[in-house]
Amino acid sequence: MIALGNDHTGYELKMEIIKYLEEKGIEYKDFGCGKLSSSDYPVYAKAVGRAIQNKECDKGILICGTGIGISIAANKMKGIRAALCHDCFSAEATRLHNDANVLVMGARVIGHGLAIKIVDTFLNTDFSNQDRHIRRIEMLEDQ
Ligand code: RB5
Repeated sequence: MIALGNDHTGYELKMEIIKYLEEKGIEYKDFGCGKLSSSDYPVYAKAVGRAIQNKECDKGILICGTGIGISIAANKMKGIRAALCHDCFSAEATRLHNDANVLVMGARVIGHGLAIKIVDTFLNTDFSNQDRHIRRIEMLEDQ
């Protein structure tokens, strides 16, 4: 189950992502926002982070204008590893190396076509499970 969250700047891109998820038969839960008028990105980062923390969802996708504010907010939450990716190489590497559980994108930074490719890469790449990466991820939780 994929948790989706966005502020007003990410609404249109989220709708494209929903189209992709539905075409692929991937289940999702939409935590908002569902509008184009001004909204506060920390609200949606928190909702998606909580859904992952309580195991209601296993991964999340967050979108704001740059992707920066919403990733800062998500990464403050225990167990959340949110990766801001605007290319497929990073999306693949962050799954392999960081076991990132949230993909973040900036709707004002990339086009919808690339964003969908990034989502596809993120969702279809498994964690490498290599000892050195497990060790480093565990170290993140000590901070
Ligand atoms: C909203 O204008 C914008 O600040 C927000 O979407 C995001 O880019 C913040 O980091």
